[in-house]
Amino acid sequence: MADTIISNHGSSEKGANPLPANSVIVVLGASGDLAKKKTFPALFGLYRYDLLPKNVKIVGYARSKIEEDDYKKRISAYIKVLDDKVKKQLEEFLSFNTYVSGQYDKDESFQVLTKHIEELEAGATEPHRLFYMALPPNVFTVVAQHLKRNSYPKNGGARIIIEKPFGHDLASSRELQTSLEPIWAEDEIFRIDHYLGKEMVKNILILRFGNEFLGASWNKNHISSVQITFKEPFGTEGRGGYFDQFGIIRDVMQNHLLQVLTMIAMERPVSFSAEDIRDEKVRVLRAMPIIDPKNVIIGQYDKSDDGTKPSYLDDETVPKDSRCATFAAIVTYIKNDRWDGVPFVLKAGKALDGAKVEVRVQFKDVTSGIFKDIPRNELVIRIQPSEAVYLKMNTKLPGLTTKTSVTELDLTYKNRFKDLHIPEAYESLILDAINGDHSNFVRDDELDASWKIFTPLLHYLDENTDIIPAKYPYGSRGPAFLDDFLASYGYVREQNGLYNWPHTSANGKL
Ligand code: BG6
Repeated sequence: MADTIISNHGSSEKGANPLPANSVIVVLGASGDLAKKKTFPALFGLYRYDLLPKNVKIVGYARSKIEEDDYKKRISAYIKVLDDKVKKQLEEFLSFNTYVSGQYDKDESFQVLTKHIEELEAGATEPHRLFYMALPPNVFTVVAQHLKRNSYPKNGGARIIIEKPFGHDLASSRELQTSLEPIWAEDEIFRIDHYLGKEMVKNILILRFGNEFLGASWNKNHISSVQITFKEPFGTEGRGGYFDQFGIIRDVMQNHLLQVLTMIAMERPVSFSAEDIRDEKVRVLRAMPIIDPKNVIIGQYDKSDDGTKPSYLDDETVPKDSRCATFAAIVTYIKNDRWDGVPFVLKAGKALDGAKVEVRVQFKDVTSGIFKDIPRNELVIRIQPSEAVYLKMNTKLPGLTTKTSVTELDLTYKNRFKDLHIPEAYESLILDAINGDHSNFVRDDELDASWKIFTPLLHYLDENTDIIPAKYPYGSRGPAFLDDFLASYGYVREQNGLYNWPHTSANGKL
């Protein structure tokens, strides 16, 4: 783009250490859903942009015995082949993918895997291996132990990518951590929270610290509240078995939304290095008191108003008397000079009225006097879908009038950055792990601090069987009292919901 001034402020992690040529990437749980939907499409994306190490080999490992052809079909299932060029690239990509089946708890199986890896490394003296654990939590530790014992190169090095859930409360997270600690060093572990790989989440620090006017107003003197919202338009629909053990708070709030909150609230890091960024994130978390149940509402979706969509309890994989929350709104505070008294509202739900993840920073009222009633400024950072940043602001309505109107400064990515590719979160994170850059991964003390904030609330909800989530219709905004709840923390809803962004014409088109 000719008119874009580009300067590069990438992480400069000390000791960042890219995987060398001839490395081997092993995807454990290669026949599962995560691998099929996210890991392999991301690896292929990196291959297309020539970002994998030269002469890399990728090995899938899982329990199922699958023929190589079926395996390759499986890992390509979610890769979009748009034209002949991509078709050819996919063939090339598949040519260096192989599969080994084996158990997760048997040394012999891992020895077979290691032998296969060594053959691919063809006598390399300092082999490097990246293990991606696309695995259910119950086999996490056992696989990490077996890998270290059987598949860790004697010279050279290894790194391991792990995915949530990292436990279900503070104690179980610490247990997991203690079981990994003696075998994998912290700098070998890459804990994924895929929200940290999303383009707009990675933009938050640039927006805040690269724009003086935003930096200057980013505090309790000017900001009234911050809301971080996650909406999904679908329920669990037959896949509630896993969800029911976790609920919405553990599923997306303690991790994804809290990560976004720390980026919004942290102080300016000394540099963009991984440790400087993560030090500041941990500092914010440590300034957050545990959540007071008085500042929480929970809900569970019911049938849609027209009866066509099922309730959560209609899902056959969910216990009939489940009290699991599929919606929650949680108000948290940060006890530091910058934020004391400002409510940070985390709001998340399944089976709501749309698909959206956004941060809404609502500013305080302007001084009254010359204005009788003028709406507040809001800065909205839309993480997905359709990345955008817009600032709702007041302007004089043009013409022979003194009326004001709400308008917006609008940075919609698809309009402003038409030709640029927005990578998938997993592409970006796997690339960071390949490059040895920890900036966008969760550090052990960060995980601990986040569980400390949420665990008392989670135990309170688990133990008090008389707390029943409020029902809300499938496809609605959430429980009926949500707006009153938000208003009680000073949030003024956009002109009672009348303001719409982006503006649409009568036929709904932009
Ligand atoms: C996952 C949750 O971590 O994040 C899912 O387990 C949720 O329940 C998903 O649907 C949302 O991710 P994304 O990238 O689609 O917003």
